[in-house]
Amino acid sequence: MERLRLTDDGFATLYSPEFNQHYHSVRGAMDETQRVYIELGLWAKMQEKTEIHILEIGFGTGLNALVTLLEAQKNNLIIHHTTLEPFPISDTDITLLNYEDELKTDLLQALHQTKWEETVEINPHFFLTKKQISLQDFNTDNRFDLVYFDAFAPVSQPELWTEEIFRKIADLTIEGGFLTTYCSKSDVRRALQGAGFKVEKHQGMRGKREVVRAIKY
Ligand SMILES: C[S@@+](CC[C@H](N)C(=O)[O-])C[C@H]1O[C@@H](n2cnc3c(N)ncnc32)[C@H](O)[C@@H]1O
Repeated sequence: MERLRLTDDGFATLYSPEFNQHYHSVRGAMDETQRVYIELGLWAKMQEKTEIHILEIGFGTGLNALVTLLEAQKNNLIIHHTTLEPFPISDTDITLLNYEDELKTDLLQALHQTKWEETVEINPHFFLTKKQISLQDFNTDNRFDLVYFDAFAPVSQPELWTEEIFRKIADLTIEGGFLTTYCSKSDVRRALQGAGFKVEKHQGMRGKREVVRAIKY
C-alpha cells in the first residue's frame, strides 16, 4: 500500500503498515475531522465556554490540531490542545501532506516543529502540548473539556477501545465534558457507557452513517 493517499474530499492521508490502517477515513479526511471533532466537539463546547482544554488521542498528521487552531482564530477562542503520539510521523511524511495548500495556511509546519513535552504558544488562540507517549502510560493532573478520541480502529487497536481505557479518560474529563469519535460500534458504545459516559449517536459524514459524542456525567 502507498504511504500517501488522496481521500475523496481532496485531503491527503497516510497509510500505516504497522497498524494496517489509514490515518483518516479514505472517503474524506477533512470531512471526518470537520464532522466528528469540530462540529460535534469544538462547536458544541464553544457554546458553553471560550477557553477550552482539549485532549487528543493520536496527533498523527496534525490535521485535527490544525483545523482546531484555525477554528480558534475564527471564533476568538483560547484552546489548550494536549495531544498524545507515541509514534510521530517523519519529516518526509509531513512534506507529503497537502493541508497547508488546501486550508491556505502555513501553520502545519509550526505544529510539527514545536518541541515535544513542552507547552508552546503557537498564537494567542492556541497553546499546543505534544506528548510522545501512549494513552496507556499518560498521566496528568489537568482535566479536559473535550477529548478527540482518534486512535486507529478497534480492529487494529482493540486495547484502546475498552471500558478500562474509557474509565481513565472519564477521570481526565470534567463533568459535562465531551468525548467524540468516529467509531460507533455497539461494543465501543457499551464500553463508554460502562465508563460513565452518556452516549449519543449522531449523523456521520460520507462513508460513515453514524458517529459518537459521549458526555461525561
Ligand atoms: C487514526 S490516526 C490519528 C490521526 C490524527 N488525529 C490526525 O489528525 O492525523 C491514530 C493515531 O494514534 C496514534 N497512536 C497509536 N497508538 C497510540 C496509543 N497507544 N496512544 C496514543 N496514540 C496512539 C497513531 O500513531 C496515530 O497517529
